[in-house]
Amino acid sequence: MTRQLANATLAILLAAGARAAVPPAPAGAPGKHADDSCIGCHAKLDDVRLRKPAELATADIHHAQGISCAGCHGGDPTSGDPTVAMDPRKGFVGKFAPRAIPEMCGSCHSNAAYMLRYAPNIPTDQLSQYRTSKHGLALAKGATDVAVCSSCHGAHGVRPPSDARSPVYPTRVVDTCARCHADVALMNRYGIKGNEVEEYKKSVHYAALTEKNDLSAPTCKSCHGAHGATPPGVDSVANVCGTCHVSQLERFDLSPHKDAFTAMDQPACEACHSNHAIGHPQDSWIGVADKQVCGACHSAGDAGAVAAATISGALSKAAASEAAVRERVGRVKRAGMLMDAADIKLEEAHQSYVMAEVEIHTVTVARVEKQTQAVLAATSAADKDAAAAEAEIRFRRTGLFVSLAVIAVAMVTLALKIRSMER
Ligand code: HEC
Ligand code: HEC
Ligand code: HEC
Ligand code: HEC
Ligand code: HEC
Ligand code: HEC
Ligand code: HEC
Ligand code: HEC
Ligand code: HEC
Repeated sequence: MTRQLANATLAILLAAGARAAVPPAPAGAPGKHADDSCIGCHAKLDDVRLRKPAELATADIHHAQGISCAGCHGGDPTSGDPTVAMDPRKGFVGKFAPRAIPEMCGSCHSNAAYMLRYAPNIPTDQLSQYRTSKHGLALAKGATDVAVCSSCHGAHGVRPPSDARSPVYPTRVVDTCARCHADVALMNRYGIKGNEVEEYKKSVHYAALTEKNDLSAPTCKSCHGAHGATPPGVDSVANVCGTCHVSQLERFDLSPHKDAFTAMDQPACEACHSNHAIGHPQDSWIGVADKQVCGACHSAGDAGAVAAATISGALSKAAASEAAVRERVGRVKRAGMLMDAADIKLEEAHQSYVMAEVEIHTVTVARVEKQTQAVLAATSAADKDAAAAEAEIRFRRTGLFVSLAVIAVAMVTLALKIRSMER
């Protein structure tokens, strides 16, 4: 009944043109809400449920633009008489049915001509995108527990997404999605595991976001979108990761896996990295043994397993060489030698090593080995520098020894001379 009423009043509201109810106050005009009866009365009500929206008004971007309670709820903000102010015949909607909310927010937000007057840079596609999302599709079928605009943005005290206090700001959006997506009972009703948030919180991405405050790390919305929230499917998943990890995607596209995975309906990156609990990759992943990533599809003796073993061997050799030379150069430096040239070579070796790890995505032995050989060439050059420096140290030590010996002989001779003169 109430929903019917709400829908009916919404229809009236929309028919009357929701925008007509918006006071077109110039931005920044002082005291423009002073005569707004809705705020005036609600700010004094005892019930916190009724008072809170009025208290949040000053933090609301709509309020700052002169859009008051009536902008969303309708009604007559010029009357102090509650029966007039909150008269459904004046388009007033007290409680929105979930289905009415996207349409209400969208009445302004999908009106390009209207939005242009206030904020020309804000896109006006949220409602049309939302309708294509799993949230929007389920809502249209009558679900009442999916996300609507206010589930993610709040209804009162709405802030721009760039404001760190907004519930959709990168560091906060995870918890906003988690309100529903970590609710296992709710998610199970839709055949979703409900462990996605928990898994994501174990990832390098979440660590980068929360520990390094790296806002370029992906949150739920980076991979799923904000308004068109659907999981990236098989076709798009490689592209989702690849928007940020460009080099790995490029290499993957060169690999025999590109076509093979497409034929298997296997998303590109997920097979080896998973989707939510993405961990820090290690050389030891490469192989077909337990807990190694190639073993999911290859088995001992096949071409993939052979390539994995060769690649793994080449990497270990390069890693061992880099570690050993770094050690040797360190020792020489502690003995007081300047080793800038060797440091540069070691840095080159490290860069080639990082490139070898990227080239793994081609699963092509020759491409990985090209980089590991560059590592070995650079470490061998640095090793030569270290050897030369060690020879120099030996030479200086011998030199020191010889001069000490000469001095000692001279002093003994002198002492003998003095003694013979005293006699
Ligand atoms: C003179 C005081 C007064 C004025 C003016 C007033 N309200 Fe209310 N409002 C109330 C009270 C009291 C309630 C709770 C009783 C009720 O539900 O009727 C209420 C309830 C509401 C509710 C909640 C309805 C629900 O079903 O939970 C909304 C939304 C609301 N008002 C919005 C507005 C808007 C928008 C305006 C201005 C156009 C406005 N109010 C003007 C006093 C006022
Ligand atoms: C940007 C649109 C928007 C504006 C502006 C707005 N509201 Fe609301 N309001 C909503 C929506 C949407 C809901 C329903 C929230 C929900 O179900 O999560 C709501 C719910 C409410 C409720 C019911 C809260 C509850 O917990 O049951 C009250 C009371 C209310 N609004 C009062 C006001 C008052 C007073 C103002 C002005 C200070 C105001 N609103 C401004 C969108 C708005
Ligand atoms: C009466 C018209 C109107 C309605 C209804 C409306 N908005 Fe807005 N909204 C605006 C305008 C105008 C702006 C731009 C304000 C600015 O940028 O200064 C805005 C800004 C926003 C922003 C900030 C965007 C940004 O990038 O700065 C968000 C988020 C937002 N609205 C969400 C909502 C939600 C959620 C609802 C429904 C609960 C809603 N709006 C209902 C007119 C409206
Ligand atoms: C599932 C959560 C979710 C829902 C539902 C949702 N939004 Fe958003 N919205 C976001 C996130 C996250 C952002 C920030 C997007 C970004 O940073 O790219 C955003 C951004 C916005 C912006 C600012 C866009 C910009 O580029 O400045 C507006 C306006 C907006 N939403 C309005 C709406 C409206 C209207 C609805 C309902 C039709 C809605 N949103 C539904 C999560 C949501
Ligand atoms: C108010 C609760 C709620 C909030 C908040 C919410 N969701 Fe949802 N979401 C749901 C429900 C319920 C479903 C299941 C809909 C269905 O499958 O029909 C869903 C479905 C999804 C799906 C589709 C899953 C699938 O199996 O196809 C994705 C992706 C998604 N949500 C992402 C997000 C993201 C990202 C956010 C935060 C920006 C978010 N949701 C916020 C309730 C919510
Ligand atoms: C790095 C990208 C990425 C991030 C970040 C991410 N997801 Fe996903 N998500 C995926 C991929 C990939 C899939 C699987 C798509 C497929 O297999 O078709 C997926 C699937 C899902 C599904 C559907 C699961 C099912 O069983 O149907 C939900 C729900 C979901 N993610 C929610 C979230 C939420 C909530 C967050 C934030 C805590 C999040 N995701 C963060 C990439 C991501
Ligand atoms: C929005 C950009 C973005 C998207 C999308 C993204 N990532 Fe990332 N990813 C990052 C950033 C930034 C880091 C760096 C974290 C750090 O180490 O500080 C990272 C780190 C990683 C790492 C760890 C690197 C290391 O050396 O520890 C892996 C593996 C990874 N991402 C895989 C993926 C996969 C697989 C996907 C898709 C399912 C994906 N990423 C989607 C930005 C992104
Ligand atoms: C066949 C398995 C496999 C696939 C498919 C795969 N990766 Fe990797 N990825 C690895 C392995 C193994 C490592 C570890 C390399 C190392 O540390 O030796 C790695 C490392 C990474 C890293 C860390 C930086 C680096 O290059 O060492 C990122 C980022 C990454 N992968 C992203 C991706 C993206 C994006 C995709 C999809 C385009 C993808 N990976 C597909 C196996 C895979
Ligand atoms: C999701 C399954 C899957 C995973 C995981 C996987 N592969 Fe593959 N790989 C395939 C398929 C399918 C083919 C193409 C069919 C074939 O030749 O066996 C293939 C082909 C190859 C080939 C070309 C074989 C040839 O005949 O020329 C190499 C090399 C290879 N993979 C190496 C690897 C390595 C190394 C890893 C681990 C880092 C890995 N693969 C992980 C499925 C996978």
